[in-house]
Amino acid sequence: MTDHHCSHDGLSEVTRRTVLKVGAGATAASLVPLRLGAQAQGATPPPESGPTTPVSFVVNGERVTMDVDARASLLDLLRERLALTGTKKGCDHGQCGACTIHLDGRPVASCLTMAAKVDGRQVTTIEGLARGGDLHPMQQAFIDHDALQCGYCTPGQIMSAVSCVTEGLATDPGAIRDFMSGNICRCGAYVGILAAIEQAAGVMRG
Ligand code: FES
Ligand code: FES
Repeated sequence: MTDHHCSHDGLSEVTRRTVLKVGAGATAASLVPLRLGAQAQGATPPPESGPTTPVSFVVNGERVTMDVDARASLLDLLRERLALTGTKKGCDHGQCGACTIHLDGRPVASCLTMAAKVDGRQVTTIEGLARGGDLHPMQQAFIDHDALQCGYCTPGQIMSAVSCVTEGLATDPGAIRDFMSGNICRCGAYVGILAAIEQAAGVMRG
């Protein structure tokens, strides 16, 4: 993993408590109902410099129609054009899990997904998990179990963890570890992450 620490996105001076909120909810803005970042809500996004292709897709419940660089990754589209910076760039090579999002309900590495491929599809990022003012049970469980240190891997961990439960694979600690093996935590917060998933699984199953 490269370039992977709390100085990303201006987080270097925040307190650990703030990082807990940021990691669990990705950004403070992610805790409010409107999911798209300011850049997406405002006027026209910056023009692309290379060849483009039109896409129309739904991000966190909101339809987005735009021209995207035909060579861009979904990760860069989310972060740089839609200002959804909760999804993190770790390795940018499909090896760390920091960029995990849900595409049509399934977890994918957004750094390996072409932006042009999202046409007609549903994307959910960490900003789309909370409902109104209520954190997703997985976000709450990560806070409850202190399942992060720097918080950089946390959005990707949470997105994979939600899929682990919804796909019925959070059956025991070994199965959870297997499912989560693609999400690397440089801080080694795995004990808390496992405990959080076990707690959230119980809540999510009702
Ligand atoms: S950024 Fe590491 S898997 Fe995508
Ligand atoms: S990389 Fe720091 S909490 Fe996982």
